Amino acid sequence: MQSPSASPSPTSPSTARPVASLNGSSAPRSDAPARLIDRIGQTPLLRLDGIGADLPEPVTLCAKAEYLNPGGSVKDRPARRMILDGLRSGAFGREQTLIDATSGNTGIAYAMIGAALDLDVTLALPENASEERKQTLRAYGADLILTDPTGGTDEAQRKVKALVDANPDRYFYPDQYNNDANWQAHYDGTGPEIWEQTGGEVTHFVTGLGTTGTFTGVVRRLKEQDASLTAVALQPDTPLHGLEGLKHLDTAIVPGIYDADLVDEHRSCTTEAALEMTRHLSRTEGLLVGPSAGANVAAALQVARSLDAGTVVTILCDTGTRYLSEDWWEA
Ligand SMILES: Cc1ncc(COP(=O)(O)O)c(C=O)c1O
Repeated sequence: MQSPSASPSPTSPSTARPVASLNGSSAPRSDAPARLIDRIGQTPLLRLDGIGADLPEPVTLCAKAEYLNPGGSVKDRPARRMILDGLRSGAFGREQTLIDATSGNTGIAYAMIGAALDLDVTLALPENASEERKQTLRAYGADLILTDPTGGTDEAQRKVKALVDANPDRYFYPDQYNNDANWQAHYDGTGPEIWEQTGGEVTHFVTGLGTTGTFTGVVRRLKEQDASLTAVALQPDTPLHGLEGLKHLDTAIVPGIYDADLVDEHRSCTTEAALEMTRHLSRTEGLLVGPSAGANVAAALQVARSLDAGTVVTILCDTGTRYLSEDWWEA
């Protein structure tokens, strides 16, 4: 790992090798026919040169295009890991129903993988989750339990726990907030991919906290590769926010998998700033992504602007097609 001051410019040969071949062609990906679930991961790392146009040359801003996963989000990775680990260990019997609480993307991933592997899936989510999400879940054949929106995802979690407590044999409850397979999917997948795709030159990793699986797994792996990595944890600035998938940890149930010791810097983002960046990403970069991706890029850009040299990586968490009926696109 080079020191930030020694980092080459984005056009120098050593950076151009991994970071510039960002169309995914350098990923170790086979073109042989594969099962749907084997196509999860190995997403491209995109350089955000337009958004980062004012950055000094030795600073590179990149985003991992997790919205290109088959289920449209970063949550395909932990969902696959939790399901396969459960089936392998026997914790998930084929006669059982997978049940969980999710703000949407993990549920879509469970439903997609459940359909592909012929597994029953029931999901609790706040009633105010977007129509696109609810319709997508139903299209995959999942059963939905809609919970009081004022209780957010915490209320959906409480509902699931009550059902599982009342009938433990009937359900497999992956519990993504407390399941190590969640962060391990990123430790074994997203983290090493970022390391390889940047040629080991990543200096800063910035991402929002939901279950905290992405942050915990990626940072744990990248810090093992290079202890000088700066890990920036992002949260919405208020408990009531419009950033689906993200948590305001001071006022929410803190996930069991969260490791506060991994955080070097905390940042917050307003919903307005996130939505503005979300619109900007689609209109000027052709990246149709959701608001948490907008929040991530807004924060990553701030971090990048504070540097003289370095490679800042963030996550494009989910596809913007999930939010097309929202009126904030019009602003
Ligand atoms: C759209 C979106 N963004 C961000 C996150 C946060 O990711 P993690 O749960 O890994 O912290 C989620 C999680 O569900 C999400 O759905």
